[in-house]
Amino acid sequence: MCGIVAYKGYKNCYPILLNGLHRLEYRGYDSAGVACLTKHGKLSITKKSGKVKHLEQLLKNKDIIQDCRGSGIAHTRWATHGKPNQINSHPHKDQSGDIVLVHNGIIENYDPIKKFLQSKKVKFKSETDTEVLVQLIGYFFQNVKLDFQQSVRAALQRVDGAYGIVVLNKKSPDMMIAARKGSPLVLGIKDKEFFVGSDISPIVKHTQNIIYLEDAQMAIIDGNDYKITSIDKDVSLPKKVEKIDYKIDDYDKGKFKFFMHKEIHEQIETINNTIKGRVNKDGILLQGLFKYWPAIKRADKIFITACGTSWHAGLIGKNLIERFAEVPVHVEYASEFRYNKTLVDNNSVVIAISQSGETADTLAAIHKANEAGAITVGICNVPGSSVSRETNCGVFTRCGHEVGVASTKAFTAQITVLYLLALKLGRSRNLLTKNSVKAHLDYKNAIKKVKLVLRKELDIKKIALKYKNASDFLYLGRGLNFPVALEGALKLKEISYIHAEGYPAAEMKHGPIALVDEDMPNVFIVPKDKTYDKIISNIEEIKSRKGKIIIITDSRDKILKNLANDLILIPKTNHYMFVVLATIVLQLFAYYIAVSKKINVDQPRNLAKSVTVE
Ligand code: G6P
Repeated sequence: MCGIVAYKGYKNCYPILLNGLHRLEYRGYDSAGVACLTKHGKLSITKKSGKVKHLEQLLKNKDIIQDCRGSGIAHTRWATHGKPNQINSHPHKDQSGDIVLVHNGIIENYDPIKKFLQSKKVKFKSETDTEVLVQLIGYFFQNVKLDFQQSVRAALQRVDGAYGIVVLNKKSPDMMIAARKGSPLVLGIKDKEFFVGSDISPIVKHTQNIIYLEDAQMAIIDGNDYKITSIDKDVSLPKKVEKIDYKIDDYDKGKFKFFMHKEIHEQIETINNTIKGRVNKDGILLQGLFKYWPAIKRADKIFITACGTSWHAGLIGKNLIERFAEVPVHVEYASEFRYNKTLVDNNSVVIAISQSGETADTLAAIHKANEAGAITVGICNVPGSSVSRETNCGVFTRCGHEVGVASTKAFTAQITVLYLLALKLGRSRNLLTKNSVKAHLDYKNAIKKVKLVLRKELDIKKIALKYKNASDFLYLGRGLNFPVALEGALKLKEISYIHAEGYPAAEMKHGPIALVDEDMPNVFIVPKDKTYDKIISNIEEIKSRKGKIIIITDSRDKILKNLANDLILIPKTNHYMFVVLATIVLQLFAYYIAVSKKINVDQPRNLAKSVTVE
């Protein structure tokens, strides 16, 4: 979703900002823009719908890159208010053209403010809520004659909603102002240079000294100095500079055409990394939970909240925790959790799962749980992210940067963490013996099986291509594999734009079966477990209606072979590992269908990697 990068220093800002915009591309966007204060005291704004490379091209043609004074702001926009075109893209300026701003988030009361400004003869150029904010700052600066800082403060005190903003004013060329409420913003400091980012990805290349702006804070950079204040009052607050130990390797697809493909293959290492150092002869170590463990292990109810793929991991977590630790677990979409009457109190444990650590709804759910006095546990992939900072404790999935918009390696790492957590809880509650925990954690063997599945890639591709022209798919699984069905369907939808639905296999009779005809592929996930015979009946029901049957299984039974139009055999393993292996098959299946349709699977249309608005 929208991304911000800004620079204030003595260097030419363009290379820094363009590199930063590339770093932000993974979030998903539909236009990009940059504004720079020139050596001649002007503001130069360049915007373009489409990709950052199109903006770069435009800048080359304009030959303005050499004219930079050292301050600039840049943005990737994911449209919320108004079409994804050049006019609506950021940066936006006020009517005088002196003040320019980039914004992440949504200004909810933009309509009355717009009407007020229109009554003062302010003319609007775009359809965006963002322009309303910069025009309001401009109104205070030009009409009310407040100084730049006071104008930003006065405007922000009048807007509702979420924002992360950076503002420049050519009448105060030594100043850059950043502020946030709801949407995250990070300040990077390096001698006489300052960087602002919507996350650390455009900054870490330049500095590891970071201030995570807290909610309702402003950073005012003036010359070579800076201060942090609240939005309400111009009183300096402590500068909490953190040294982060986080590197983002140069994006490199290696031998792969797409990051998503690379990330599917990386699961051998990412699952291993997520377990490594957390399992020893005495059991499972989750250091990040240490302080809160006595309370966590006594919990009599656990809540899990998340969005998208992470929510599917949550459903698997529920199954594992209830199975091993016998604690009831309630899983709720974060967007519902934040508004529903949820029975969270100071005896509750709330687990929030998020790859990016910046999903707006998940953060709001964490705030609600924190306010209720619950213990909040983050399962997150990005150190320093808002989820990792705003939960009481947590466990990192150690996948490295996930670039592909459709989550793959983060999902299997999330279920790995949930598996460790469920087993640790079961052991702490004396429901599992040391030996049974050990038996579950034969992960070296498990990793070998991931490799075996990846070796089946060409077979999976062949099967995927047979079905690439289908317009609808059903994915069906039971128990732990119902969320796998949901995730398989989501992957296909996200990257191939084919309609797909995941269902518990038996529930299919209550509606979806009406869709089945000879053109409809039905993907069944069939482990040889206690529901095996039942799921065979479900397959028969579809077969007798001429639906196409694709089976993913660890069973060599002839019966399945006879029922299947296509069958993908995965190695025998335990329940948890079956889920991981079946997921990898479904990731590859969706990937090959999407690639055959010539879709950019790393940045599918309309989707964002990090959804920072509600
Ligand atoms: C977006 C992404 C999904 C992701 C979801 C939740 O929709 O496209 O891949 O699962 O957000 O993101 P999170 O970072 O909180 O896991």
